[in-house]
Amino acid sequence: MTTQLTTNNLSSAGVSDLGSVTPVGITPPSNFPDEATLQKLANEFFSNLPNTGNSSGLNLDLPNFAPPPHPPQPAEPIAALSARAPNIAYQKSINPELPDHIPNYPDYPERRAIASAPVIGGANIPKPPFEPHAPEVLKNPANIPQIENALPKNDANSGFYFLNDFSKPEVTPSNPVSDNYAIAESFKLPHGDGLKPLLENDRKYAHPEQSFYFLDLPQLENKKVDQSTLIIPSSTAQPLDIQRIRRDFPILQERVNGRPLVWFDNAATTQKPQSVIDRIAYFYQHENSNIHRAAHELAARATDAYEHARNVVARFIGAPSSKNIIFVRGTTEGINLIAKTWGEQNITEGDEILVSHLEHHANIVPWFQLTKKTGAKLRVIPVDDTGQIILEEVPKLINERTKLVSITQVSNALGTVTPVAEVIQIAHAKGVKVLVDGAQSVSHMPTDVQAIDADFFVFSGHKVFGPTGIGAVYAKSEILDSMPVWEGGGNMIQDVTFEQVVYQPAPNKFEAGTGNIADAVGLGAALEYVEQVGIHNIARYEHDLLEYGQNALASVPHLRPIGTAKNKASVMSFVLKGYSTEQVGQALNQHGIAVRSGHHCAQPILRRFGVEQTVRPSLAFYNTTEEIDLLVSVLHQLARNKHSFQ
Ligand code: ALA
Repeated sequence: MTTQLTTNNLSSAGVSDLGSVTPVGITPPSNFPDEATLQKLANEFFSNLPNTGNSSGLNLDLPNFAPPPHPPQPAEPIAALSARAPNIAYQKSINPELPDHIPNYPDYPERRAIASAPVIGGANIPKPPFEPHAPEVLKNPANIPQIENALPKNDANSGFYFLNDFSKPEVTPSNPVSDNYAIAESFKLPHGDGLKPLLENDRKYAHPEQSFYFLDLPQLENKKVDQSTLIIPSSTAQPLDIQRIRRDFPILQERVNGRPLVWFDNAATTQKPQSVIDRIAYFYQHENSNIHRAAHELAARATDAYEHARNVVARFIGAPSSKNIIFVRGTTEGINLIAKTWGEQNITEGDEILVSHLEHHANIVPWFQLTKKTGAKLRVIPVDDTGQIILEEVPKLINERTKLVSITQVSNALGTVTPVAEVIQIAHAKGVKVLVDGAQSVSHMPTDVQAIDADFFVFSGHKVFGPTGIGAVYAKSEILDSMPVWEGGGNMIQDVTFEQVVYQPAPNKFEAGTGNIADAVGLGAALEYVEQVGIHNIARYEHDLLEYGQNALASVPHLRPIGTAKNKASVMSFVLKGYSTEQVGQALNQHGIAVRSGHHCAQPILRRFGVEQTVRPSLAFYNTTEEIDLLVSVLHQLARNKHSFQ
């Protein structure tokens, strides 16, 4: 069977004459399709292959084959990061000042180039984002120091979860010395088992004491939950097939400045999977209506979709019921809602509100405004030099006038994961309520508001792969029942006369007017997507990715990391000597890499570290080690340019 691609098939996509495909080296005619059109055509072509589940109309006579499968990542976590040690070592080969605990291995950039190439319609088209080159060390393997004898013994009882399951079958390449790849084994370097103790040493060096936040995460078993909506997350993380996951996010195929997009601005907002985009489109195509009021079919569909999303939010954060979930625009609106309702009701002159030094402006300004209005006082939990809150200070800062502790679970500027469960325990022992800002945590770790016993929990949909303009407030039922309403209007009332107004029970009494119905539905789809991938799997993969990233960044001369707490998620803030953060951001943008540079709406914590701004790459589970390598090589280049003649 032959592949037939007719001009008829393609004319609608803007190609008038396929017969005029131009050989390399000859100037294309003016009507030759541009790169974007070609990419669109390729997408259309591949997505219409048999077995791809797409039937958008192209009727091609093609052999029956599926796109090449991307094998799932091996279960072994170090291997799951693919090329981890060699790529760390690549930094060493270009920076002799690299710390001793990072071993010296050759890199194999060809593989990285292929792995980070754009994937179009299921086909992996190798198109390196940069010119692959062999580091010096690869050209003369005999000179590579043999360090196998220096390997420390693997400690089977190591506290690090990822070092304890070495008994699992080893995943080895079927053809270790191939024409395409140079790998550690090609040069008789440690690989497989040999790498693990080295990395263990590396990790011990980084964090001598044990216990990571996600190892202590509460399980759902002991909790009151609606069993009909319960999904018990697996506490045993499964490896993720990152390339497959990346194909779920169409924007990751974008090119920026001619390079594949590297999205490292996840703390600002996350990208959206196709399922979310499709769900919102479906809502507008088949369900769009206002909710609750009308007794017609579409009103029923829209109401069902909206309330289903509320159920999903409740399940996702471990709330006992969807009645505990108020839809808001996002975290900022959520905190303002609480400050202006519960806060104004319960906080008076002389009372105290405790926040941490890590807070985003959204968790400072509403409380500051409340203190100005009421005469209450704002107090601050200090942080240590790593950027972690000093837990011992919390009980000392709580007194009989303290009414609320409002604290972030993950710092947006430093990435610190704070011990919120312990803070809540301390506060509750003194009768003080706690609000947890989950804006930066929900996408990186399991959330269980009941297990940590939060009184309030707020988060934004757009930071967890959902749409912008939608988020949620959780509060305990007894709080919601006595909390006064905020905005007034339609949708939130039972009865209105000119003499009196009777409100709906929570959550409706806090949702005046027509809400963001479609995006709430989209948020539900985003959380269902995350549930499918598995938040435990995400937490584990991202932990290793962050360790990898921080190690790699440590190899860049004159780079100062800002925020080095043991428990961190996603964020790798830094400053680079000789450059403004904006200059670094622009240089990275030239390579297609998106990071945020600036004060991140968290000025107090940056000033605590003596800086006004940082460069802030922030990771999500669709990011890869290859992308980190690209980031780090651009930073090396910047560092070299600035400092080579000094
Ligand atoms: N809060 C978002 C950030 O940290 C906007 O970038």
